[in-house]
Amino acid sequence: MSSADKGKGRGAGGGAAGGPTGNRFGGERQLKVRLKTARRRSTSSQRWLERQLNDPYVAAAKRDGWRSRAAFKLIEIDDKYHFLKPGQRVVDLGAAPGGWSQVAAIRVKAVDGRGASRGEVVAIDYLPVDTIPGVTLLELDFLDESAPGKLKALLRDGGADVVLSDMAAPTTGHTATDHLRIMGLAEAAATFAAEILSPGGTFLAKVFQGGTERDLLALLKRDFATVRHVKPKASRADSAELYVLATGFRGRS
Ligand SMILES: C[S@@+](CC[C@H](N)C(=O)[O-])C[C@H]1O[C@@H](n2cnc3c(N)ncnc32)[C@H](O)[C@@H]1O
Repeated sequence: MSSADKGKGRGAGGGAAGGPTGNRFGGERQLKVRLKTARRRSTSSQRWLERQLNDPYVAAAKRDGWRSRAAFKLIEIDDKYHFLKPGQRVVDLGAAPGGWSQVAAIRVKAVDGRGASRGEVVAIDYLPVDTIPGVTLLELDFLDESAPGKLKALLRDGGADVVLSDMAAPTTGHTATDHLRIMGLAEAAATFAAEILSPGGTFLAKVFQGGTERDLLALLKRDFATVRHVKPKASRADSAELYVLATGFRGRS
């Protein structure tokens, strides 16, 4: 294993973890947990609880020390496209409870790297996030006008190599509204990425099924060499969630 690969496919505590590319999620027979209807539980919270109890990624995240099942989405995308490297500066937008930040901190060597191969992660969420080794946390709404400046001030040389956004506002149940909100967050993230990324940089953001909106896609295609949509296996098949991955930032014009 090369030094760049150390920490890949491992649990947050450094223990072995097959990750989503292992056969742990495909081949293993899962026990189906069914709950008796509790009088005080609504049908939707009953469904949510059953889904959590039967979700192999939830169990794996708990076992391997990841803060969220979402950690497996970033692991899977980076295992395929290899954009997180030791020494990089990463911004994680919408970081709570912290799974992506944990993965990024390990892969850029934010704790155990030396000299130029020691990376850094700066994370923001309006929800509190418990301390993560190697991650600087900002508890603030990213849409607050002071947020971009505060993030820049926390980064080495005021720039970044990777901007991640898993931001999502609580869903309303009204598909069109939820779509607009998530695209608004992705657009704000892309605008910020274009201001802060170094040439060659990467932008990864949660969008909505149906693809990235024309305006956002046009902006990304202008600024990045490659733009693709990614649906990791860890993203629930019945969810409209999708990711846009833009690599090879061309630099500010
Ligand atoms: C799906 S969760 C992120 C999960 C995270 N990637 C992980 O691995 O633990 C989406 C997060 O986006 C945050 N969020 C949504 N809108 C935001 C905003 N305007 N500013 C900061 N955070 C925001 C939410 O508070 C929520 O914690």
